[in-house]
Amino acid sequence: MKRVLSVASECVPLVKTGGLADVVGALPGALAGQGWEMRVLMPAYRGLRARIADWPEVFVEQDLFGGRGVVKAGEVDGVAMLLLEAPHLFDRDGGPYNSGGVDWPDNPQRFAALSWVAARIARFGLGDGWRPQVLHAHDWQAGFAPAYLAYGGPRDVATVITIHNIAFQGWAPDWMLETLRLPRHEFHPAALEYYGGLSSLKAGMVTADKITTVSPSYAAELMRPEFGLGLQGLIEARAADVAGILNGVDETVWNPEVEDTPYSLKKPGRKAVARAALCAEYGLEVPGPLAIVVSRLTDQKGMDLLPEVLPDFIAAGGGLVLLGSGDKALEAAMLALANRFPGRVGVTIGYDEGLSHRMFAGGDAVLVPSRFEPCGLTQMYGLRYGTVPVVAAVGGLADTVIHANPAALAQGVATGLTFQPTDAPAFAEALRRLVALHAAPKTWAQIVKRAMAQPVGWEASAAAYAALYDGILRA
Ligand code: ADP
Ligand code: GLC
Repeated sequence: MKRVLSVASECVPLVKTGGLADVVGALPGALAGQGWEMRVLMPAYRGLRARIADWPEVFVEQDLFGGRGVVKAGEVDGVAMLLLEAPHLFDRDGGPYNSGGVDWPDNPQRFAALSWVAARIARFGLGDGWRPQVLHAHDWQAGFAPAYLAYGGPRDVATVITIHNIAFQGWAPDWMLETLRLPRHEFHPAALEYYGGLSSLKAGMVTADKITTVSPSYAAELMRPEFGLGLQGLIEARAADVAGILNGVDETVWNPEVEDTPYSLKKPGRKAVARAALCAEYGLEVPGPLAIVVSRLTDQKGMDLLPEVLPDFIAAGGGLVLLGSGDKALEAAMLALANRFPGRVGVTIGYDEGLSHRMFAGGDAVLVPSRFEPCGLTQMYGLRYGTVPVVAAVGGLADTVIHANPAALAQGVATGLTFQPTDAPAFAEALRRLVALHAAPKTWAQIVKRAMAQPVGWEASAAAYAALYDGILRA
């Protein structure tokens, strides 16, 4: 087996704040079938330390940004994990990036430390003799890993950085250059300098052999300022090394055949039972399409459009169950919708994996009105569950949903509805179309069937990553 080290700040099932964790957790399994052994390096946050107490130490860094760093190796759900224990950086209450909504002030050091250790492992290997041939960094948290490797002298390990969300760029002031162990002579616009300071994401994008992102459309969008958010020029300059590789979903976890009320492409009938159960859970009676939303509540996700479009959708017979958390104002706005439309709208503020499964099983449609969406996973869960995706035509949403326009309907290939731009009029129009399609049972059944038949697993993407790694292997 060829060897690749994946470096990230979160990984299912240990820590998750978003789709990044799902992808990082799924890649090792997907790549194993492609001849690549992937180990995942991640911080040992407070909640993980007890669990790894007796894992063997495989790497030690005596001076890791103000304290000792130890890497412990173990297996979680079949994934080979490397957890970086550095209590001075990671043993604290709160989330991986912030506490009470405020970013940890030493985030630059915390994730530089993760990246530093990744680069050292790539150069010197672990105590058990394992050394990767490829280092695969994810997002800004791992951005300095390819940079440390590139600036540390000749290297035989190839590097890849994947952009899951370019909105988070890992910015730090320029005076941190030495603190972060970066070479002053690389502080210029073609290398480390970014708007007068530093960006770990940019550092990774400048130094990695390949840059990937999580859908072909997002890769193209990133060359435009409104999506590239300052890094569009760099993406364009490195276009020959940029690839968009769609995420997959874990088809054993997201499988309507293993839900409380199992159903399948061949026997879709019992989806109605799951729907009734979901309605009962929220005391809803919905004559038209029952829409669901499972999402972080942030500006990216377009949730602020819901209060504008929902009244007409409800009047036309629709209903909504929403599960999410995030922005406090959006949480309040969503709860207000539930109060305003009792019997039609149910809202749960929080994070609940089990509930999200019941929602995908019971919903008729899943709404994803994102302003930008690098890939998006919930529209793919929707496809798999015959829960028709209604999505903004951006990024991975545009790449995974086939819009029910007249031609697609005539060909029988439509799997959902897409709309653009991401604004209230376009979203409202898509919901009107949803109501109309849902009221035409034959057409609706055809869309549901096509959606469920669409492949959303990892196979094709794992092969694409393997080919990418093979292409950059060094002697
Ligand atoms: P992002 O990473 O931008 O949040 P994705 O669609 O890639 O968007 O991934 C989001 C992941 O988090 C999905 O697996 C989704 O089901 C899950 N998720 C988001 N919010 C919640 C929630 N409140 N409860 C349960 N799962 C959630
Ligand atoms: C980011 C993006 C999301 C993507 C996920 C996994 O969180 O916002 O679109 O699916 O990363 O790549």
